[in-house]
Amino acid sequence: MLASVVFRVAWLVMSEFVIETATWRDLAALRQIEKVCFPLDAWPLLDLIGVLTFPNVVRLKAVADGRMVGFVAGDLRQGEEVAWIATIGVLPEYQGRGIGAALLQACEEKLDAPLIRLCVRQSNETAIRLYRRFGYRWREDWRHYYADGETAVVMEKSKGR
Ligand SMILES: CC(C)(COP(=O)(O)OP(=O)(O)OC[C@H]1O[C@@H](n2cnc3c(N)ncnc32)[C@H](O)[C@@H]1OP(=O)(O)O)[C@@H](O)C(=O)NCCC(=O)NCCS
Repeated sequence: MLASVVFRVAWLVMSEFVIETATWRDLAALRQIEKVCFPLDAWPLLDLIGVLTFPNVVRLKAVADGRMVGFVAGDLRQGEEVAWIATIGVLPEYQGRGIGAALLQACEEKLDAPLIRLCVRQSNETAIRLYRRFGYRWREDWRHYYADGETAVVMEKSKGR
């Protein structure tokens, strides 16, 4: 009994994080997250500057223990009815605490489009499970999309579903 209470309290303390808007000041931390989360596909510096500064981009960070531990970006092109989740990543030591889900939900809420799409490596079962739980469904495969030849799975959801 005592052990389970201690475990629950420890889990709650460990799980504390907040979601905030990211800015260009987060560039160095974002670069680090990209390197760790996407060893094969990390975005080049210019893309990271773009995602932190371009208009019509929803950019949110998760902050825990006084530092940025996760990031999500959603891209809404003007006049289009489809928004894209451009990237989402959480530092490995902070994964499995609901941070990825919280980032995704907050980003979806800010994307003013009826449809949201994203693409994911077909081997990335953890991410695909998370997306399914959020209501994303398979739309199409982009074969050889990634530099190492892996297929990208494009998933889509209607907002409000
Ligand atoms: C995909 C990714 C962003 C998910 O982030 P995360 O913070 O681990 O996500 P969550 O914690 O919200 O959910 C992940 C799993 O942890 C579980 N979890 C979440 N909170 C939990 C809690 N309080 N207690 C126990 N388990 C929990 C969830 O149930 C979920 O498992 P499930 O999908 O089997 O149900 C993260 O794994 C990541 O950064 N991966 C590397 C980069 C990447 O692949 N990005 C996606 C590219 S398309």
